[in-house]
Amino acid sequence: MSFGLGHGRDLDDAPGVVGISREELPPLPDEAMTNPRAGLVDPRTWFRDPSMPLEIEIGSGKGTFLLEQAATRPTTNYLGIEWAREFYLYAADRIRRRGLPNVRMLNADATEFLRWRCPDAFAGVIHLYYSDPWPKKRHHKNRVVQDRFLADAWRILTPGGELRLVTDHPELWEWYEDFIGRWTRPCEPDAPQLIGRPGPAFEKRDFTPPEWVDDEHVIGTNYERKTRAAGREPRACVLRKC
Ligand SMILES: C[S@@+](CC[C@H](N)C(=O)[O-])C[C@H]1O[C@@H](n2cnc3c(N)ncnc32)[C@H](O)[C@@H]1O
Repeated sequence: MSFGLGHGRDLDDAPGVVGISREELPPLPDEAMTNPRAGLVDPRTWFRDPSMPLEIEIGSGKGTFLLEQAATRPTTNYLGIEWAREFYLYAADRIRRRGLPNVRMLNADATEFLRWRCPDAFAGVIHLYYSDPWPKKRHHKNRVVQDRFLADAWRILTPGGELRLVTDHPELWEWYEDFIGRWTRPCEPDAPQLIGRPGPAFEKRDFTPPEWVDDEHVIGTNYERKTRAAGREPRACVLRKC
């Protein structure tokens, strides 16, 4: 079975096409080491209607969020990024069978993809739900949220764009709060500059669940359903690009 986008293929001629494998991205040129823009691609062109607004989900797992959200918002394009090949294939197959033209799945490390491949100000929302907590201290460097990631997220978001975060891991939430403290300030023009410096920043806002999620859940993904049944409480927030 093939999910591949294939270079030069016309999406209208390939209605079942959902996935983009690592191998289908053009090679990162050596020049990218000195010119970070040299390897950029435009993921908007991977969709049947590239003019629609685009949102990204990092770590899509089995793809439940993408399936529900894309069906509810057919005029928005959704790019799911999942580095585990078995989940990427599983999610791409579910999306293909539902026939959703506004979803694509990319098999890649999302942090590397944002850093080296994504153009400025092209995504309205980045969704990051139940990211792996990497509990051991020596593995903290593998967590998605880092200063480098927040700088890249800020760069690729459109003005007023949002990074939406949910986790039920208390220590990962503390990690998020530490970054949030350093990366947020009120966005209103007259507000005091709480972090005391100009430059990239977000405003922290409350998280509102999508309309298709039931009252028992915050985001209703597979992971959340499993861990809520085990009694774990989610924490959530939105970081809006100032
Ligand atoms: C705990 S699961 C949650 C999956 C899904 N968001 C949910 O709520 O059911 C975290 C997922 O993120 C993926 N992941 C972790 N780090 C990633 C990265 N840097 N790039 C892409 N996927 C990543 C993992 O493979 C895994 O499928």
